[in-house]
Amino acid sequence: MSSVMTAPPSDRAEIVDVGFPFKSLVDRLSPGGRYIDAQSDVDSPWVPFGDKAAIKHLAFDVRQGIFSNILWVKEPGVVGTHLHRGTIVMVCLEGSVRYLEYDWVASPGGLILEVPGESHTLVTEHPEGVKLFGWMQGPIEFYDADGKFVDTTDVWWFINHYESHCRAHGIAINPKLYL
Ligand SMILES: [Fe+2]
Repeated sequence: MSSVMTAPPSDRAEIVDVGFPFKSLVDRLSPGGRYIDAQSDVDSPWVPFGDKAAIKHLAFDVRQGIFSNILWVKEPGVVGTHLHRGTIVMVCLEGSVRYLEYDWVASPGGLILEVPGESHTLVTEHPEGVKLFGWMQGPIEFYDADGKFVDTTDVWWFINHYESHCRAHGIAINPKLYL
């Protein structure tokens, strides 16, 4: 008899050996899952990002060009126009944010998806700014007010942003952030 599961079996809180046949390969080759705390600065410090913002770096994956962090814009402000070459997943954690190019305003819990080729200008008008969790892939190109290319941020830029702050402040680099 086959049936469709309506919800996972959840009657007991206990560890079960699922008998996965490739467990030894996983143990040998997988970088492993992990937890990065964001309530404190123990796993990762807030690193200044301009005058009004800071970034808490959460993960770097150089194979896939992925970087994950929390961007905190601390008061009403702007992150200038940028063009994505990869895919961006963000969740608004606190405050609110919008883009000049779109008609929606993100509020806490909301999902923001951005795709390669999109360019936009981030604005928070919330009195306490915005905190955004991001799982981001690929280069981001920043442009000035005249549409002139300024610089690219990618996984290497974000790693350097984190590590140079750690070096300057005597903070140990956390190997858990590197996937
Ligand atoms: Fe963006």
